[in-house]
Amino acid sequence: MTDLIPLGGKRVLVTGAGRGIGRGLALTLAASGAHVLACYRGGGEHIDSLAVRLKETPGDHHLIQADVTDAEDVQRLLEEARTRFGGLDGLVNNAGVISHIPFEELPYEEWSRVLDTNLGAVFRLTQQALPLFGERASVVNIGSRAATVGIPLRGHYTAAKAGLIGLTRSLAKELGGRGVRVNVVAPGVIATEAELPQAVVDKYSGLTAVGRLGRTEEIAHAAAFLLSDLSSYITGETLHVDGGI
Ligand SMILES: NC(=O)c1ccc[n+]([C@@H]2O[C@H](COP(=O)([O-])OP(=O)(O)OC[C@H]3O[C@@H](n4cnc5c(N)ncnc54)[C@H](OP(=O)(O)O)[C@@H]3O)[C@@H](O)[C@H]2O)c1
Repeated sequence: MTDLIPLGGKRVLVTGAGRGIGRGLALTLAASGAHVLACYRGGGEHIDSLAVRLKETPGDHHLIQADVTDAEDVQRLLEEARTRFGGLDGLVNNAGVISHIPFEELPYEEWSRVLDTNLGAVFRLTQQALPLFGERASVVNIGSRAATVGIPLRGHYTAAKAGLIGLTRSLAKELGGRGVRVNVVAPGVIATEAELPQAVVDKYSGLTAVGRLGRTEEIAHAAAFLLSDLSSYITGETLHVDGGI
């Protein structure tokens, strides 16, 4: 069994926790000793099974439905953090959307949806979470290796994820004096429940130094480190977790 980064009693909000990397984050952070407020958007069996898994894990964990692009939902979500936990020690902005569209056909509505979910929601959540933070807090924004590389058909997505790096750098400087650290974890290609054609798996595995796709818990361990006091002198950083792609 892999050793876990100790998060003893830290109160952490994770967005987009229903599936994919967010689910791995919620389960790994809970197993590491954090109390987890897991935000999900759409319900279903996967949410029921996440609730069961979290219930089996020691700690004070809660599942809250909220759309991070909806200002009222975000307000309600943070109110839940206040009433259930009395504050927050960590925020993981993970919820994200992507689409693959040639730039010359990209409708402005789709540009806005992708920017608002991947970047606007981080603004909204982080700003409104500030009053809940204690003397020390850590914000982890889930970015993307693609942000500083660029990929055809993902101009809107990479613009949002690159914006996250600028926001993270500025907030690290602006909030460091009040004990808030802000960092990015930038995944490479991570295997999730989403089916990928074998040709795509082979292609991206072959581009990495380690010869395989990443696992959701490998993103979660990096986030756990940045949430923990072990990383107390790290802020404004982008940690690429990409198998050396
Ligand atoms: N997987 C990768 O290879 C990879 C690589 C680089 C970066 N990333 C980043 O890692 C994060 C997670 O990616 P993933 O692969 O796990 O994606 P995913 O499987 O598509 O899951 C995305 C999660 O975000 C939630 N979400 C989307 N829009 C939301 C909204 N408006 N309000 C609340 N929740 C919302 C989704 O909820 P629903 O279930 O309701 O849709 C879902 O739980 C994203 O920020 C992504 O950009 C992923």
